[in-house]
Amino acid sequence: MKQIRLGQTDMYVNPVGLGCMGFSHASGAPTPHDEAIAALRAAHEMGYNFYDTAECYTGVNPDGSINYNEELVGEAVAPFRDQIILCTKFGVTHKGDHLEFDSSPEKIRQSIEGSLKRLGTDYVDLYYQHRIDPKVEPEVVAGVMKELIEEGKIKAWGISETTEEYLRRAHAVCPVTAIENRYSMMARWHESIFPVCEELGITYVAFSPMANGALTGAYQSNKVFAKDGSDFRANMPQYTEEGIKKTNELLEVVSQIAQAHNATNAQISLAWMICKKPFIVPIPGSRKIERLQSNFDAGKVELSPEEIKIIDDKLDTMTFDVFGGHAGK
Ligand SMILES: NC(=O)c1ccc[n+]([C@@H]2O[C@H](COP(=O)([O-])OP(=O)(O)OC[C@H]3O[C@@H](n4cnc5c(N)ncnc54)[C@H](OP(=O)(O)O)[C@@H]3O)[C@@H](O)[C@H]2O)c1
Repeated sequence: MKQIRLGQTDMYVNPVGLGCMGFSHASGAPTPHDEAIAALRAAHEMGYNFYDTAECYTGVNPDGSINYNEELVGEAVAPFRDQIILCTKFGVTHKGDHLEFDSSPEKIRQSIEGSLKRLGTDYVDLYYQHRIDPKVEPEVVAGVMKELIEEGKIKAWGISETTEEYLRRAHAVCPVTAIENRYSMMARWHESIFPVCEELGITYVAFSPMANGALTGAYQSNKVFAKDGSDFRANMPQYTEEGIKKTNELLEVVSQIAQAHNATNAQISLAWMICKKPFIVPIPGSRKIERLQSNFDAGKVELSPEEIKIIDDKLDTMTFDVFGGHAGK
């Protein structure tokens, strides 16, 4: 299987990474501890070597205690810590119905210490600024990242949901290894940053690459999602009746290509971006072992430029209203 180099570092990952968020956060009740550990370890056996978590990925356990995704991931990967690339993020706090951003140097310093402790590790391989904090200049954040690299607390850094201007300014101070932006067939508005990644040698880590599961075709109603606020999918526009109808229209094209490759729609949604650009690494999330395996195997599906074009041509005729973005591309 081809390996993807992360930015200009000596770190390489398999073509599909692992989004660990759903075990604790935004997908309903946290997964029971032992089940989650077993799935996260099974993923390593399958070949996953790129684990993605964040300081703010938390949920509430049945006994009322906080479920920290970093603690879970740290415990799960402890037996093979040095064989994987472990990523986490700073700078976002969930405050009820909104997010609070803080990337001040003091807060970053606090965050890295907390993350290292929860992860049970001495270093983070790839440390992302989770969201741009308009109060802090990119040069300041990059300066702190430079110090953390020199101190050995992180190996490399990245920015999530970055703009081109912010990326260029930050990169000039301390080279950015990866960006982690939303990207899927239904969320293509960041494609304009691809040439910048190519020019600067930066990896594009694609989050929510299956449009939060919509592109799998597995969900035909939002009624299956918990309505108590713990499952963000319950209120996502792609899961309204209209959203599902549109997704199904797209999946008619995707599933023809899937059939030709003896693959699933989920696999094609990942292979589409892996085969499009050599610097894109999707990090789909799943808590189910069979889905983890099938998502990982998407890295083996070879789509031709013609097949990618068939999908892109269809996408060009459609607009989508997707969680986390603007309607359209
Ligand atoms: N940087 C950021 O701001 C940011 C934001 C959001 C997410 N992320 C990262 O990106 C990762 C993935 O994003 P995401 O979870 O939002 O979206 P996603 O990967 O597009 O979709 C995940 C959803 O699809 C379902 N699913 C996964 N594989 C499937 C399959 N083969 N067949 C049917 N259903 C399947 C999962 O349910 P089950 O678990 O039940 O299988 C889950 O609900 C997260 O874990 C997180 O690490 C980062």
